[in-house]
Amino acid sequence: ARPIWLDADPGFDDLTSWLMLSAAPEIELLGVSAVAGNAPLADTFENAVRARDFFGLKAPVYAGRDRPLAGALVTSQHLLGPTGLASVNRTLPPGPYPGEAGDGVQALIAAAHAHPGELSVLALGPLTNLARAIQADARVPELLREIVWMGGSSDRGNHTAAAEFNAFADPEAADLVLTSGVPFVMVGLNLTRQVIVDPDHLRTLRSWPGERAALLADHLEFYLGIRSPGRPGPMPFHDPCAALRLIYPELFTSVPAHVRVELDGTLTRGMTVCEFRVPARGVANAEVLTHAHVPESQTAMMALLRTALTE
Ligand code: BDR
Ligand code: CA
Repeated sequence: ARPIWLDADPGFDDLTSWLMLSAAPEIELLGVSAVAGNAPLADTFENAVRARDFFGLKAPVYAGRDRPLAGALVTSQHLLGPTGLASVNRTLPPGPYPGEAGDGVQALIAAAHAHPGELSVLALGPLTNLARAIQADARVPELLREIVWMGGSSDRGNHTAAAEFNAFADPEAADLVLTSGVPFVMVGLNLTRQVIVDPDHLRTLRSWPGERAALLADHLEFYLGIRSPGRPGPMPFHDPCAALRLIYPELFTSVPAHVRVELDGTLTRGMTVCEFRVPARGVANAEVLTHAHVPESQTAMMALLRTALTE
């Protein structure tokens, strides 16, 4: 089985991605590190631990870093609610559900050393934990097989006009990782906006038996209503696209690019600037996903979720 590490800030779409991984063949999830992002670290960590136990996901969960390399903590609580996981009536059952005591960054480094050249990291939040791992151990980039990151955009942003949320929340970390030499796959908004989740998917999820499917459906209903409360509508499904890329790379096309992150711009801080004219204008440091086979991606997503939630 392929060894995988999940670094995330759950978050509904992070949690959905984890469920998809759990149903994928040939994957061994070695561990999960939580990072501050959608909500403060205490919440993303607790969400991860509680979701793991409710959904029977079986992986050690560690707390990583609680603030970006520079600047103040930025979260999505204004959109996702105070804990970052949709505050629907029937939330995850109360704890206590202890996670692992160790440090998420050190655990990630240890996993990289234990599987030299083999470990893929699925990164679904700000890249703080990855950047700290590279700062702590310069061998990490050569030890990892790849980082598949949901973040950035080769066109417009979402948190700001120019910047995607995960990039904006820790631009210094994203730029450090991108310039570290680690094989890097960018699953940006330009891609995730192609793969829509909508009320039809919600109806399908609602038709599945069991409390796990029902709980995920409640969260999906909240998510579909973020832009129009009470009237669920289509939404891009960000993090699950990155999980799918890891599991079924053939569902996507990508092009090599030289990607850097704007750190200084007043209007453009956190923008992922993609130079596609490689090697003429720069050395490629990333594969940037450009197109998804959309119906096949949606079908694969739902099939993985059905297995994760009903079997
Ligand atoms: C990203 O930001 C978070 O809110 C989502 O979980 C996703 O990782 C989309 O910009
Ligand atoms: Ca996320």
